[in-house]
Amino acid sequence: MDSTPLEQWRDALEEHFGPNRYFGVYRETGSTQDLARDLIASAPATAPGAVFVAHHQTAGRGRLGRPWITPPGSALTFSLAFRATPAEAERLVLATSVGVAEALDRWLEPVGRAAAIKWPNDLYVDGRKIAGILVETRDHAAAVGVGINVGLTAEQLPPPLRAQTTSLGQCGADVDRLELLLETLTQVEHAWNQRHDDRLLQAWEERCRMLGHDVRLSHDGRIIDGQVIGLHPRDGLRVRRHTGEVVHLPAATTTVIESPR
Ligand code: BTN
Repeated sequence: MDSTPLEQWRDALEEHFGPNRYFGVYRETGSTQDLARDLIASAPATAPGAVFVAHHQTAGRGRLGRPWITPPGSALTFSLAFRATPAEAERLVLATSVGVAEALDRWLEPVGRAAAIKWPNDLYVDGRKIAGILVETRDHAAAVGVGINVGLTAEQLPPPLRAQTTSLGQCGADVDRLELLLETLTQVEHAWNQRHDDRLLQAWEERCRMLGHDVRLSHDGRIIDGQVIGLHPRDGLRVRRHTGEVVHLPAATTTVIESPR
């Protein structure tokens, strides 16, 4: 349950992270990704570090142009601006998925659960999606959007989605969204600033259920069947095809068709 009124989140963010960053807190907006992208376009030098958070998004979006809409107050939805080139997009997806998983575990561990990463941008608990990540790069900056289902109930979902989706509340965790925001920002930035890619990759490997398993993916209109053997922080998912050939698949141009969750 939220214990801090939304009107006080900005001050709390400034108190936690210092006054030299831009924090925008909205009761309702279209998409926090658009707010971050607009700032990146209008003030590219000052945008990195800016955070936009919304109690409710009316036009939230996910990967591949899919909608990402949640009932007001049921999710934590925010976007964070980074200084990163398009070549670093893959590492940004990696660091964000590890950071969000680490943050979720602060609330999941006490209820006997853990967050798993489904490459590239989904977080799962018990085989159901709990959070999604959207990374959009432009020149030397990126908008990283994170949506985490917090109090979302099964009844708020259309029946076909109920078996595929969960929330921290459905897992038995009572979560204050401001606390979750502070923890998630801290963990994502910590992962991104991690100089040792091997440590980042190890954290990813410990959480990715796809590792070592057979998957079916679509890349540039081609179907790829094979086994996931790892991740490269720049080139993407490493898959050994059934022919023996090893391919690297970037997150931006690859869709997972079948994989363990
Ligand atoms: C996905 O699951 O495909 C990614 C979902 C990303 C949703 C977040 S919510 C905050 C930010 N604003 C958006 O419009 N999308 C991202």
